[in-house]
Amino acid sequence: MVAAQSGVTLDETLFPARRTGRGEIPGEGLEIGGIPVARLAERVGGTPFFAYDRELISRRVAAVRDILPAGIHLHYAVKANPMPAVLHHMATLVDGFDIASAGELGRALDTGVRPELIGFAGPGKTEAELRRAVAAGVTVELESATEVRRVRKVAELLGLPARVAVRVNPDFTVKGSGMRLGGGPQQFGVDAERVPALLDEITRAGLDPLGFHIFAGSQNLRADSLREAQEATVELALRLAESLPGPLRYLNLGGGFGIPYATRDTPLDLPSVGERLGELLETRIRPRQPAARVVIELGRYLVGEAGVYVTRVVDRKESRGTTFLVVDGGLHHQLAASGNFGQVIRRNYPIAVAHRAAPVPGEETVTVVGCLCTPLDLLGDRVSLPRAEPGDLIAVFQAGAYGLTASPTAFLGHPEPNEVLV
Ligand SMILES: Cc1ncc(COP(=O)(O)O)c(C=O)c1O
Repeated sequence: MVAAQSGVTLDETLFPARRTGRGEIPGEGLEIGGIPVARLAERVGGTPFFAYDRELISRRVAAVRDILPAGIHLHYAVKANPMPAVLHHMATLVDGFDIASAGELGRALDTGVRPELIGFAGPGKTEAELRRAVAAGVTVELESATEVRRVRKVAELLGLPARVAVRVNPDFTVKGSGMRLGGGPQQFGVDAERVPALLDEITRAGLDPLGFHIFAGSQNLRADSLREAQEATVELALRLAESLPGPLRYLNLGGGFGIPYATRDTPLDLPSVGERLGELLETRIRPRQPAARVVIELGRYLVGEAGVYVTRVVDRKESRGTTFLVVDGGLHHQLAASGNFGQVIRRNYPIAVAHRAAPVPGEETVTVVGCLCTPLDLLGDRVSLPRAEPGDLIAVFQAGAYGLTASPTAFLGHPEPNEVLV
């Protein structure tokens, strides 16, 4: 594991339980932010709950900053985890935010981050959202010709200048991304080949395009394909910049750095990505577009491994040779761990018995399910765990990103879980 200049290694930004392997909790049980998990459960008012570790987030951001070249501005993609306490903490660590709705706009502004350091990307922005964005002074990343007209109208109505950039749907795809957001026909951005004409239209509308947002895919663990994608993105941006009325002032390369979920996943080789990015900055971008503010906006990579979803075993039952542990949470809170968000073939997230009232030696193979009456509500399929009984706590790791925010909380009318930053 490469040590960052701050002395923090990427490995140190994982829960100790993740470092030592699946299902094993060292010592007396899981601690989150130095607090034993059973005590934390009492503190937050019971299970299920999500806990995010402040120190692990800080360490991860420090390690990423050390590895990425100095000229790169690190933004946080709010969609990954919009909990207000997380955002306030993140605002002290990163250079800006990426938002995708007026709701996220409000939360981002509440942290005190300067509006010009917030980028608003996403299809289907309504006029009401654009009014709020222009009034706030954030950068609107235009996704269509209709949006250009709407922003112009809003700017005129409000008598305010609008900060705009163009979200580009690239003319290439990225290999290895769990979720593709660019290449081929897309609801995101403007097809690269249409961008020069759109830039003309933007300028004729009296707007000043600052540059481009180009992002092709999320959850990528392959350094080679991220490097390739960044090379292709930079070349595309430099080409499109020739059609800008002025210099390129903003180049957002998106997010997409993946984290390992399954045991066989290999963590991303971030130093290799950072090294190539540094070369691109020095040899391609700086000589041709020295004024460009180059941004990477990461979500999952900054927070995903700093979060745990904690549930309590409610029932333990046998059915035709299978032992089921039924817990008080499920896919309504943590859809991703059930395999129904961003996975083609379901794989278990790392799962462990976090605390046992009466430990007994030995391991067993069990299936951990949630409390919803659907077979989709599966948190651990035939996992090897220490024997657990009703009342014991089960932790699902890698729950810091696209967890609660990406889950159908209303489904079956159970209460919302607590969230805590410790
Ligand atoms: C526009 C935009 N920026 C950033 C991100 C963050 O991606 P990730 O969490 O993979 O870093 C996304 C994710 O979908 C996105 O759509």
